[in-house]
Amino acid sequence: MTVITSPRPLEHEVAPLFANRWSPRAFTDEPISDADLFAAFEAARWAPSARNVQPWRFVYARKGTPAFDKFIGVLWERNQTWARNAAALVFILSKKTFEVEGEEKPLRSHSFDAGAAWVSFALQASLKGWSTHALGGLDYDKAREVLGVPDDFELEIGIAIGRRGDKAQLPESLKAQEAPKSRLPLTELVSEGRFSGK
Ligand SMILES: Cc1cc2nc3c(=O)[nH]c(=O)nc-3n(C[C@H](O)[C@H](O)[C@H](O)COP(=O)(O)O)c2cc1C
Repeated sequence: MTVITSPRPLEHEVAPLFANRWSPRAFTDEPISDADLFAAFEAARWAPSARNVQPWRFVYARKGTPAFDKFIGVLWERNQTWARNAAALVFILSKKTFEVEGEEKPLRSHSFDAGAAWVSFALQASLKGWSTHALGGLDYDKAREVLGVPDDFELEIGIAIGRRGDKAQLPESLKAQEAPKSRLPLTELVSEGRFSGK
């Protein structure tokens, strides 16, 4: 295996964008401009989806607004400690149904498609020097209420977005984790012809 020098050990060369993105917990005080935030939404908008239904929806709040404080309040406490320093929080919802000839039918891929939108969002943010950190550790029932999510929508994930800060600001318990993570080797992930993984 050739290890290519990058912030992360790569088995194969890829665009720096993929290797450079990682999920920090320390953020600076810098507010995010509308231009950069909406460029990330724009990238997410262009993700592929089954039948081009585009089931993703986004709800955001900037730090310093009452909505941001409410958003923070739905996160698990250990996520609150660091996510409150982000420039903005974004939630991704997905619509679970789509219309066929006037009738709403289940859309099997609504979460998968929203996942594609999340990655596009994260990579576009990263291109502009913004870090993102997905947040699944939250009270989903409370979050649905706070955000006003209708029953036919899934609440998928929260995202903290901000400029990466100094890890010295983090509590001791989080400092050690403040670095790009490794990944499983491709040999464990890719099979030819028939699934041979575990
Ligand atoms: C669906 C999802 C939920 C996550 N939930 C949390 C979370 O609640 N708290 C947290 O600190 N990180 C959370 N993460 C971040 C992951 O732990 C992180 O993406 C993973 O360890 C890989 O690290 P990297 O993004 O730095 O490459 C979540 C990521 C995803 C994709």
